[in-house]
Amino acid sequence: MRVLIEQSYEALSRKAAQIVQEQITAKPDSVLGLATGSTPLGLYAELIRLFKVGEIDFSKVVSYNLDEYFPIKKSNEQSYDFFMRKNFFDHVNISKKFIPDGEASNYSAECAAYEKKIADSEIDLQILGIGNNGHIGFNEPSNFFEEKTHYVQLDESTIQANARFFAHESDVPRHAITMGIGTIMRAKKILLLASGATKAEIIHELLNGKISPKNPSSVLKLHRDVTVIIDRDASLPFLFEERF
Ligand code: GLP
Repeated sequence: MRVLIEQSYEALSRKAAQIVQEQITAKPDSVLGLATGSTPLGLYAELIRLFKVGEIDFSKVVSYNLDEYFPIKKSNEQSYDFFMRKNFFDHVNISKKFIPDGEASNYSAECAAYEKKIADSEIDLQILGIGNNGHIGFNEPSNFFEEKTHYVQLDESTIQANARFFAHESDVPRHAITMGIGTIMRAKKILLLASGATKAEIIHELLNGKISPKNPSSVLKLHRDVTVIIDRDASLPFLFEERF
């Protein structure tokens, strides 16, 4: 696992955008795995800027998002479908983009169909954020690693953390569809971003703790090409001095 510590959130976002840009330059028809949450917002803003100045072209790129609340209308401003259109898709020329369908009538069928779509393709670069409890996508702490795209009940701590985006905590959906740990681990490269002091503890746990489904992000240590970019606030400096 390669760990890059940037001075600020802005620098983290620029570094992440540079990695995405290099990926697309090397392979214009790259398949990207995309994430939501507040962390990748700076990355998306920087990619939009690079697109507008003609330094990146998404016309052959295909993307798959990690997850979506279930059930949720695409018109709901808190749906990840809405988030991606507002913060990225509506501003670039990305050719094909896929997100689990929060409006599907049958979540099991939707999970299977989404998993198959990704398996038929191959994700070149997967972007990840991380939950305070170590979740990646919506793979919550558990007794085992769930392999494929699945329907999940959200943790109370995730509901609390995401309540800041909703008018009332009771509005936060209690379920979601998420790529599984196996789905994520099949990506050729993984880029995990974490910013801010609230992520310092889980990042320390990720880098120094054991591999366990109690911290789903820990499985990334078994992947051969993971880059973690954090800013100073997420880095518990005194602990890093011990390690590096
Ligand atoms: C959400 C998403 C994750 C994201 C995480 C962290 O629940 N499902 O993909 O990484 O929360 O979000 P944030 O970046 O806002 O801290």
